Amino acid sequence: MKIETHPGQNLRRLAVMGGAYGNVPALEACLRHAHSNDCDTLAFIGDATGCCGHSDETLALIRRNFSILVAGNCGCLAHQYAMRSLSAENRKWLGDWPDLALIETVVGKILLCHGSPARTNEFLYESELDNGGLNAWLDQFQAVGFFCTHSGLPWIRRLAGNRFAVNCGVVGKPDHDGDPAVHYAIVELSNRTAPPSKVAIERVEYDYDEWANQLAGEGVDEMFLIPLRTGEWTCGLASLPAAERRLNRVAGITSQRQTSHL
Ligand SMILES: [Fe+2]
Repeated sequence: MKIETHPGQNLRRLAVMGGAYGNVPALEACLRHAHSNDCDTLAFIGDATGCCGHSDETLALIRRNFSILVAGNCGCLAHQYAMRSLSAENRKWLGDWPDLALIETVVGKILLCHGSPARTNEFLYESELDNGGLNAWLDQFQAVGFFCTHSGLPWIRRLAGNRFAVNCGVVGKPDHDGDPAVHYAIVELSNRTAPPSKVAIERVEYDYDEWANQLAGEGVDEMFLIPLRTGEWTCGLASLPAAERRLNRVAGITSQRQTSHL
C-alpha cells in the first residue's frame, strides 16, 4: 500500500470529505461550508467520480481545494458515467493518489483511508464496529485516530485514551435517512485543552432538485436520481447490515449535527 505522510503541526481545523461521485453542486456546498467554518486544511479520501458524470469538473474542484488526497475504489454501473467525462490527464492523476495518508498533528498521527486501514474496498458499518479491531489498526499505524468513507453512512466512535475512528460520510449522496442533505467531517485539533480534539459530522444542504433535473436531461439513470431527491437509497441495500438497511427518518431529523468531544 502506498502511504503518504503530511506535516500537520500547525493544523487546527481539518475537513475530511469523500464520495463526491461527480456531484458538483453538493461538493461546492460542502467546500463553502468548510471554508466558512475556518477549516485550514481539506482532505479528500476517495471516490471523486461516479454516477453523476461531470468527472473533470469534480476533479478541478478537488485540485483547487484539497491538499491531502487518498485513492478510492471504482466500479459498478456508475463507472460508465464517470469514465465518459474523465480526461486522460485526470485518469492518470487519480492513479497517483496514495492508498493511505498519515498527518502528523499536535495530538498525534491521524490516518486517512478510503474503506478501512486494511482494504480500500472494505465497508465499516457502525453496527458492526469492534473496538478491539479499531484499536489494533491505530496501534499498527501508531495513530490517535482514523477517518474513512466509502460506505456512505457516517459515524463517530470514541475509543479509550482519547483515540477515535470516524466515517465522514459522503458529499455526493445522502445517507439513506430520508433527508437529501450530504455529509463530511470536521476535526478540531489543539494541544492546549483537554480533551485535545473535537470531531463533528456536518450536514450540508444543496439544491438537489435542480441538480437531479439537470442529470435527468443528461441521461443519467433514474435509479441514481431517486436517492438525490428523496434521501433514500435505491441500490446497495441488500448488502447492508440490518441496522443500516432500515430507513432511519428519525436520525435524519434529529442528527442535524453529530458532535463528539474526544
Ligand atoms: Fe468507495
